[in-house]
Amino acid sequence: MMEENKTLEAKIQKLKRERNAIILAHNYQLGEVQDIADFAGDSLDLSRKAAATDAEVIVFCGVHFMAETAAILSPNKTVLLPDQHAGCPMADMVDADSLRDMKAKHPNAVVVTYVNSTAEVKAESDVCCTSANAAKVVASIPADREILFVPDQYLGTFAQEQTGRKLILWPGYCPTHRRIRPEHIEQRKRQYPEAKVVVHPECRPEVTRLVDGVLSTSGICQFARETEAQTIIVGTELGILHRLQKENPDKQFVPVTEQAVCPNMKWVTLEKVLWSLSENQHQVKISEDIRVPAEKALQRMLEVS
Ligand code: 13P
Ligand code: SF4
Repeated sequence: MMEENKTLEAKIQKLKRERNAIILAHNYQLGEVQDIADFAGDSLDLSRKAAATDAEVIVFCGVHFMAETAAILSPNKTVLLPDQHAGCPMADMVDADSLRDMKAKHPNAVVVTYVNSTAEVKAESDVCCTSANAAKVVASIPADREILFVPDQYLGTFAQEQTGRKLILWPGYCPTHRRIRPEHIEQRKRQYPEAKVVVHPECRPEVTRLVDGVLSTSGICQFARETEAQTIIVGTELGILHRLQKENPDKQFVPVTEQAVCPNMKWVTLEKVLWSLSENQHQVKISEDIRVPAEKALQRMLEVS
């Protein structure tokens, strides 16, 4: 297996150079995929990289909305998603028609949309946010405006608690993070009383209120590097443990629950990355009538954060 991966890696690196490509990977990707990437990060890091790269081709190892974000920000580049079935169930919990209906009911509202959403939904939004900057984006909105927060009710609740602003919440959620329950945290705290606990803001409020840090995936990596604690209990998708352990070989990382797996994040494999580069598949393309307004909402976010 190791040998097989080495051969695949060498082929990927060769093709990557020939095609002037960059490989971006989300922190939840399989360890072997994170290891061949030029850059691994959270959604905010990855969107910044996608906007700034000189490469002609971006191979996006993540889920569909992430590759779409790269395509929105870099319209002249080829953006490849190695598995077209890698979606995000939360992103599918809102569509442009239902958002338009909701906007009609709240005509004065500013629409703040989590990047875990389709390009069509972003195009209907005023500003985007990620898990790393949701509170900052919400706080930047004039106090006399209503705010409609789409689609993650839990990230919205967290931003509401951080800023003191009242938000109209869309009832979406991440099925993976919803599996993390307060009982899991309490049990882990009893097992490891000296440990620090960090979770992702997609977790339920009953969970985020119990912990030492509520952070994006890259925020969790930074917390792990900086904390004095030797044991860190981690409440997010299990793929992050690869990076955490690699960057902090002397610290111990304990998942809050082994059930926190996002199957969509595991669709991309080394074989598919190689196939994607050699066949130029699957290209993520967005029509200009959607891309231009979606880019405005993303650029507003990048200006705020
Ligand atoms: P981050 O932006 O924190 O990496 O989160 C993305 C995501 O999909 C979390 O489930
Ligand atoms: Fe979507 Fe949740 Fe998977 Fe993130 S972990 S991509 S929010 S389903």
